[in-house]
Amino acid sequence: MGIKLVTTAAELREESSRLLAAEAAAGSFAREDRPTQALVPTMGALHAGHAQLARTAVEHNDVVVASIFVNPLQFGEAADLDRYPRTLDADLALLEAEGVDLVFAPSVDEVYPDGMPLVRVTSGPLGEKWEGASRPGHFDGALTVVAKLLHYGLPGQGEAGYRAYFGQKDAQQLTLVRRMVADLNFPVEIVAVPTVRDSDGLALSSRNRFLSDAEREAALVLSRALRLIEGRANARQPLDLDSAVGLVESQPLVELDYFDVVDPRTLEPLAENCKDTPFRGEGLALIAAKVGPVRLIDNVPLNS
Ligand code: PAF
Repeated sequence: MGIKLVTTAAELREESSRLLAAEAAAGSFAREDRPTQALVPTMGALHAGHAQLARTAVEHNDVVVASIFVNPLQFGEAADLDRYPRTLDADLALLEAEGVDLVFAPSVDEVYPDGMPLVRVTSGPLGEKWEGASRPGHFDGALTVVAKLLHYGLPGQGEAGYRAYFGQKDAQQLTLVRRMVADLNFPVEIVAVPTVRDSDGLALSSRNRFLSDAEREAALVLSRALRLIEGRANARQPLDLDSAVGLVESQPLVELDYFDVVDPRTLEPLAENCKDTPFRGEGLALIAAKVGPVRLIDNVPLNS
């Protein structure tokens, strides 16, 4: 059966309940002794990284819903929101090819019927550092819509399991979504899917399309520097972050914002752990930089 597009929460509930009931009646389930429903939240402009999210969700679950919604609440400047690519037909084709059952692509009025919400999820101190420092309010906006999308995607049919899939590429968002789900008791399992990279190492992002050839070449220094840190962590060597920072700063087209190694749960820097002594324990190397007109982020988990 082909993919189905719905645009209202009522249609989503009706269609997903129908699909789940059919799975329950068929009686053989993807992974558990009960049917499971998954949500893959996206803003569209889908690429191979999203395809990997969808594919993983389809492998693990019986009914898979992907959402496509460009959330005005998480954009700082109106120009950024306007510039965000809208590619619905191509997105539907990609999701259909991955075996997604249902796409929920609501309008802004459907999601925010009374205008922008007065009550929002607050990301707290975790949302103010790193990406949050240069994009004030971004994570409050992202968490608010993720909370709404998780509610829209809740399975309506009896004892079904529920999972939602997020990319490791947006590491801070992933940490915050996990915290929200734990702190506010959302009945959903959050599954992280590893970052997908081009063959030369560049992490896939819908923003890469705005890089010139020279900028794209320069941007490779981000993943190179992360690989350097990862290699030292794997070899139980001191991370020598300073030399990796130097490598990034030697690239004239790249304006480094931050590059650090942090605790993956608290996002606090693990400075004393990564200077001159062998690195032990779990960490997350985070980097962000402006390359030409584009802000890029990337990360690698260490010893995870
Ligand atoms: O990562 C994204 O694409 C967005 O932040 C999300 C999770 C779909 C919320 O708008």
